[in-house]
Amino acid sequence: MRTQVGIVGAGPAGLMLSHLLHRAGIESVVVENRSRQYVQERVRAGVLEQGTVDLMNETGVGERLAREGLVHRGLELRFGRRGHRRGHRIDLFGLTGGKAITIYGQNKVVEDLTDARLAAGGRIFFAAEDVSVHGFDSAAPSIRFRAGGEAVELRGDFIAGCDGFHGVCRPSIPAGVLTAFDRVYPFAWLGILAEVEPSSEELIYSRHERGFALHSMRSPELTRLYLQVAPDEEIGNWPDERIWDELQRRFETRDGFTLRRGPIVQKGITPMHSFVVEPMRYGSLFLADAAHIVPPTGAKGLNLAIADVRVLARAFGDFYTSGSRAGLEGYSETCLRRVWKVQRFSWWMTSMLHRFEDENAFDQRRQLAELEYVVGSHAASQSLAENYVGLPMD
Ligand code: PHB
Repeated sequence: MRTQVGIVGAGPAGLMLSHLLHRAGIESVVVENRSRQYVQERVRAGVLEQGTVDLMNETGVGERLAREGLVHRGLELRFGRRGHRRGHRIDLFGLTGGKAITIYGQNKVVEDLTDARLAAGGRIFFAAEDVSVHGFDSAAPSIRFRAGGEAVELRGDFIAGCDGFHGVCRPSIPAGVLTAFDRVYPFAWLGILAEVEPSSEELIYSRHERGFALHSMRSPELTRLYLQVAPDEEIGNWPDERIWDELQRRFETRDGFTLRRGPIVQKGITPMHSFVVEPMRYGSLFLADAAHIVPPTGAKGLNLAIADVRVLARAFGDFYTSGSRAGLEGYSETCLRRVWKVQRFSWWMTSMLHRFEDENAFDQRRQLAELEYVVGSHAASQSLAENYVGLPMD
């Protein structure tokens, strides 16, 4: 089988790349090792930056997003020396000249993009087995896999690695080519999805003596909540009552904030990791979200992946229309400039809000001072806001 761009991964990055390429008249095929149902049902990120929303609208896949997305113009930070006196609102909209974030599940983004690709005749292989990538040090790279028991070789001019941190693309690059930069955090997030009306209209990031907690949502009937837990924590140690009690303690304020409780329909533990490889390209293999991972504290993972493929789609577009390789040559450097800024922000939010096992009393006071500064200074609030709603795409 032959195409122009072979794409590994049918998450937001791979599907958006395929969609953007289609709009530029470039053919692609997407290969995904999970089933369509799995990628559309798993609960993942849920915060879209303004630029991600704009891109979906500009490219004709924003219809359901406009209907069902929850536009948030602010967020809340909660912290205090002995419990929370009150929350502090960050006016994202006012501090960024009118930008906002939109709450919309990653699974819905995937569903919308899959529908758009299939409606336009796009080819996506779900549940592909034994996916591997070959020949990207030549001009004839290929993706091999088995679909419905049959061996397939997909040849293209380029391969795009949109299969995330755990995918096959990055490890297929020979040793010595990439330099990795990483940090593993000494904690994880226990996340739940509960069938209950959110307890606040906006997201709440809470720094508490017992550990970080986050209040988010997916719809007016679905609340998404997270708790900082030990990195090796087992979900079996957390019966529902324990989760709710712990969340309540970490969010409660002196004026009696109470968390609404409801049936927990999903539970999971997410490790926290910052990771980047450089460069984001080897020969004809271009890494998108396969080149990095961010801890979820800044809600950046999905948005960063979308920003990468936007740069990549433009580079392929220039190549196929004018033969220019400048965009391809500059891809890694262009993306990495933004990737590192987003890494910095995600690390900073993570460091400011979590308890670290090796921290001392000085660190705790410094962390609280940082939060006081962020909410008390226009400049510092604005810095958080401009990063949170999303840095410019290039
Ligand atoms: C989520 O709603 O899943 C969510 C929101 C904000 C974050 C991370 C996750 O920082």
